[in-house]
Amino acid sequence: MSRIIIVSNRTPGKGPAAGGLAVALRDTLAAREGFWFGWSGKLVDEPSPKAKFDSIDGLSVAQVDLTREDYQAYYAGFSNSILWPSFHLRLDLATIEAHWYEGYRRVNTQFARALLPLLKPDDIIWVHDYHLIPLASELRQLGARNRIGFYLHIPFPTSDALYAIPHHQELMRDLSRYDLVGMQANRDVTAFTEFAEHQAPSTLAGSPLKSVDFGRTEVAAFPIGSDPDAFARLAASPAAIKMIKRMERSLNGQQLILGVDRLDYSKGLPQRVEAYEKLLANNTRFRREVHMLQVAPPSRDSIKEYKQTSDELDAICGRVMGRFAEPDWQPLTYVKRAYGQPSLAGLYRLARVGLVTPLRDGMNLVAHEYIGAQDPADPGVLILSRFAGAAEIFEDAILVNPFDTDETAEALRMALDMDLPERQRRWQRLMKAAKKHNVEDWSKAFLDRLAPASTAGTGTRDI
Ligand code: F6P
Repeated sequence: MSRIIIVSNRTPGKGPAAGGLAVALRDTLAAREGFWFGWSGKLVDEPSPKAKFDSIDGLSVAQVDLTREDYQAYYAGFSNSILWPSFHLRLDLATIEAHWYEGYRRVNTQFARALLPLLKPDDIIWVHDYHLIPLASELRQLGARNRIGFYLHIPFPTSDALYAIPHHQELMRDLSRYDLVGMQANRDVTAFTEFAEHQAPSTLAGSPLKSVDFGRTEVAAFPIGSDPDAFARLAASPAAIKMIKRMERSLNGQQLILGVDRLDYSKGLPQRVEAYEKLLANNTRFRREVHMLQVAPPSRDSIKEYKQTSDELDAICGRVMGRFAEPDWQPLTYVKRAYGQPSLAGLYRLARVGLVTPLRDGMNLVAHEYIGAQDPADPGVLILSRFAGAAEIFEDAILVNPFDTDETAEALRMALDMDLPERQRRWQRLMKAAKKHNVEDWSKAFLDRLAPASTAGTGTRDI
């Protein structure tokens, strides 16, 4: 059976905080003798052209270092100051420095050169996320004939936002060098198709790129999931129970409203706290009866827009505290640090409301994990943004427009007032959907489509 080679910007980390993706792909890699390739997280003056192998929690990982200059242009610059905001339809937060594209390309070339000597002809390569759109082009230029798939973890932008990205035509052409392109949601495939079929020919007229040939590249939705049963087990683990007990003592009977997100402007954190503020302002009966906990580990903090979001959140949380706190009651707690999955599972289980309101999100796995961790006898309520990919799956959540803080405040009221039979009914259907869209089936579906048994390893693609 062909080996599977996973490529992503970051390779999985050690320990219990390792992401669901790493956990899901670990078994696939172990069974097929593959490895995971990516950046080591280290910045050095002169990176070795060769990748170094390591074993991380039993997973074989090959890593390369980056120069500080390339990290700035490729990661902080093109990937996270141009692609990230544009793909999330936040052109107002994009900083466009066209020269970053050279660094982005350079790192993709560096990845391809370091990866190529490690490949066998029938290896199947699965590339993850927006940092590495050009990787298949780079590998094919070097002669790789393997089956190569790409999965976009974030939303695909509308045509207008795509036009705002320097070199978007090359990026579209790069996508056409993959055998399979996977997206999170149907809306992403629709946006992609619209650009590829209707917009691209006129934009490309007169340019050296006459067309974007998607003839042999299949583009399809593969919604990622979590392992809800594992989250259910985790929520009953000693670490989760310890967290639950700690929180129960401090909550003293108040109902918990919980948000867990990287501190990122796409997550809609200021809007979320504003909605909570409206709940307290419009419904005095909830004061002293509820508590909001927002866990927000800092992210990409070398980028100005992330610092601004953090400052904005500090200001709005301070405002809500000043407005509603009393000497013996605080309306909210805001924690800027990361927790391991067992502690998070405990928090999810305790929370009467899981508040997942990104302004735009590829999928949002917090929604999946929150559902998995609930107590079937007394489940909480999921409030979910219509603009998260997860909204295509979880119709039984309370769906909200996160920009409309009145609507979110009303959803909070509904969730807090919801009776037990209704909570159970909704949760049972949500859990069914979470199980149906689990991460193991997701990776299997993608890999089966990328390399069905009959074509795996034939290496027939023209270059
Ligand atoms: O979900 C998008 C994503 O960029 C992932 O690829 C990544 O693991 C995560 O967000 C965290 O981002 P970063 O690697 O920039 O800290």
